[in-house]
Amino acid sequence: ETIYLKDYTAPAFWVDSVDLHFELGEEQTRVASRLALRRRPDSPSGALVLDGDKLELEQILLDGRPLAANEYLLDDESLTVLAVPESFVLETTVVIRPQDNTALEGLYRSGNIFCTQCEAEGFRKITYFFDRPDVMSRFTTTIVADKQSYPVLLSNGNCIDRQDLGDGRHSATWQDPFAKPCYLFALVSGDLGCVEDRFTTCSGREVALEIYVEKHNLDKCAHAMHALKKAMRWDEETYGLEYDLDIYMIVAVDDFNMGAMENKGLNIFNSKYVLARPETATDADFQAIEGVIAHEYFHNWTGNRVTCRDWFQLSLKEGLTVFRDQHFSSDQVSRAVKRIEDVCVLRTHQFAEDTGPLAHAVRPEHYQEINNFYTVTVYNKGAELVRMLQTILGPDTFIRGVRRYLQHHDGQAATVEDFLMALREAGNLDLQQFQRWYSQAGTPQVSITSQYLAAEQALEITFEQFCPATPGQANKQPLHIPCKIGMLDTGGQPLTLQLSGDEAGTGTEEMVLHLRQDKETLRFINLPEPPVLSLFRQFSAPIRFVGEESSQTLAFLLKHDSDSFNRWDAGQRLAERIILNGANQSSRETAANDLDLLAASFASILQDDSLDKGLAAKLLELPNELYLALQMQEVDVEGIHTGREQVRKHLAVNLRELFRAVFNASQSTGDYSVEPEAVGRRSLKNRCLWYLDALDTEESSQLVADSYRSATNMTDRIAALMLSVDNSGALGQELLGDFYRRAENDPLVLDKWFAVQARSSKPETLASIKNLLSHSSYQPQNPNRVRALIGTFSRANPLRFHVSDGSGYALLAEQIIALDPVNPQLAGYLAGGFSAWRRYDEGRRKAMQQQLQRIVSLPKLSRDLSEVVTKMLE
Ligand code: ARG
Ligand code: ZN
Repeated sequence: ETIYLKDYTAPAFWVDSVDLHFELGEEQTRVASRLALRRRPDSPSGALVLDGDKLELEQILLDGRPLAANEYLLDDESLTVLAVPESFVLETTVVIRPQDNTALEGLYRSGNIFCTQCEAEGFRKITYFFDRPDVMSRFTTTIVADKQSYPVLLSNGNCIDRQDLGDGRHSATWQDPFAKPCYLFALVSGDLGCVEDRFTTCSGREVALEIYVEKHNLDKCAHAMHALKKAMRWDEETYGLEYDLDIYMIVAVDDFNMGAMENKGLNIFNSKYVLARPETATDADFQAIEGVIAHEYFHNWTGNRVTCRDWFQLSLKEGLTVFRDQHFSSDQVSRAVKRIEDVCVLRTHQFAEDTGPLAHAVRPEHYQEINNFYTVTVYNKGAELVRMLQTILGPDTFIRGVRRYLQHHDGQAATVEDFLMALREAGNLDLQQFQRWYSQAGTPQVSITSQYLAAEQALEITFEQFCPATPGQANKQPLHIPCKIGMLDTGGQPLTLQLSGDEAGTGTEEMVLHLRQDKETLRFINLPEPPVLSLFRQFSAPIRFVGEESSQTLAFLLKHDSDSFNRWDAGQRLAERIILNGANQSSRETAANDLDLLAASFASILQDDSLDKGLAAKLLELPNELYLALQMQEVDVEGIHTGREQVRKHLAVNLRELFRAVFNASQSTGDYSVEPEAVGRRSLKNRCLWYLDALDTEESSQLVADSYRSATNMTDRIAALMLSVDNSGALGQELLGDFYRRAENDPLVLDKWFAVQARSSKPETLASIKNLLSHSSYQPQNPNRVRALIGTFSRANPLRFHVSDGSGYALLAEQIIALDPVNPQLAGYLAGGFSAWRRYDEGRRKAMQQQLQRIVSLPKLSRDLSEVVTKMLE
């Protein structure tokens, strides 16, 4: 069954208040609900239909009167009360079994902790309700549970009552003063430890901050708490947004389908995004924790105070909130590096999504299972759209517009149109054409040609945009594309930009061009010599840009561009050219020349002491195999891997002294710190180690072994482990054994142990994954563990996943099939590993198609999996 955006209708009833009463039990959990309902004046009379997913109804009362069996209907998805008055109270009691809930939606258990995940449609697995975001109600929740096993009882809002029930049980009652949709409901109960802190808001409100974790993890919460306080302050200072309750709670659980959830006042997190100590978490983990903590906190305004009218608007909260967390993070870490990382995710994963059968718009027009739309397109491309809006409006107007949106829609469920309207009013700008970005799927391609007119001292640049067809969208309309542009003279100095027709000019060295047509030409004047163009600075639009630069120009930009993003991008494009040409007999020679150019550029980066070390590490990074695969008509799995390895080795051989010197100079001193300086130093050091390791000598393998053994933090340790596991020789096995012993049953460290092996480029990888599937530490019910082993293998190890005999595909399919009855959402996610199947050679294509057909022909498929697989085969 497909749901369409165009079919949206407003809810027929309001729910003024919701009183929930939970009796948590080991076998049965009883949920009593009392809803105060009111028919909307303009809605037609008719039955009351509530969502409820396989609930066992024990009792139903309407205005206190038990309903007779012929007064209501029940099925697997809903409860229908045939006749109801204008306003009434409906009481139901249902029984659910959280301990058997392996799908991790609704109320479930993670170890000994009761917890919830209601977004998007999990609340219907808890009780009968209008499980849609535009029904907002005030919730009061009482939790009753055994006192000893479940000392902690949490829900949204403020705790207004606690009772000892005298029979070994106790209860707590929580009241949330803000009306909210049910997807923001949360409940947690267990034997948890708590780290406490305080925050005073800008207006002087005292907020209790509490992070709940299993007691042995209490020493891993300091970073998350610090991040929370920074995020709270940042939102006040940047957007003028203040927290609105007296308490803010975060709970970490080990079993979680996604990253985290912004439930009002009670965030529930995948423990991966809370717990960290230098010995257990990498720099990237620390940074991700800071980002996700901030993300969920920022949702309190962009998501909770103003929510979404329906799930088609998901990017309204997610795109905006990702944009906000990226902005926050870039204020904490190296701004240049952060932008490169964000773009890398987009270009590697979102661009891939756009080229395949699952391509969809930031605001899709239909879906079968909304869980399948928590995608890089909705989140990360959505964030890029917000970023373009900021570029178009300018930062101050943009902030004013966002505040206006939040003011006008506070307490409401809004749409993308509402958001754009508020921005338009703040900026007095036409965003009509811009809006197409939300409905048009696919990655636009912008081709650039330029012509220097010596006699007129002018440069004409022609921009041509084209967006390839995506499923269901054959023809595309031109988009409003902001292009941030700069120009360099032949000495690498910035030039002043002057557009013809704008003689007054602004005398700036950078400006934003607003491209709006399929093809348009702009003329820049007062250019005594042909300039070097730097286009789409900071990746000002999520497009694929096709330029005409020579390799010399790319090397020039890599050296001189004042825009850090474009410096990096020039290097990436040069490296890409070399790797892809290297695989091709006829262009080998060009590749060899370009390689010398790249080596010379890298040499000067390695010698440049003034450079931000984190940025240097990025500039020295070769494009990853997934990104390279996207640049080919038909993916050459082995060619990409070998080509990239050859370039790595060539650079290692030619620059070994420099890599060695920088490696030595970048050793950490003193205590571990996550300050950008220290993070940058570690990443540069480990980048050098990556090259040195490619020398494949006794000495280099000793260096890796020493790095591992002398490591005092996870960043250095895992970097060395990864290299050793990829190498021939016994070191890898030895270090894996050591790593496993050190993990001491820490699930997050064990995940890394699995992931490192799943990522190995060694031919034995597939066999070792099969062994790992029956390892005593492998837990198929735990999403983090499944993602570490199967997700890493199928998404981050193209060389071994796409092994030509198809055995990698068979393994993935088997895991998907086994997982679907257990956790459909995870099965749907894993199936995405096949989405690029049409882009491979015939043998691989057929082998993947066969696995997809095998899955689709199963007698019982979850909606999650069936939607994804059916679309892939269409
Ligand atoms: N709103 C959450 C976040 O991005 C994600 C929850 C997604 N859950 C799901 N079952 N699809 O912060
Ligand atoms: Zn979010």
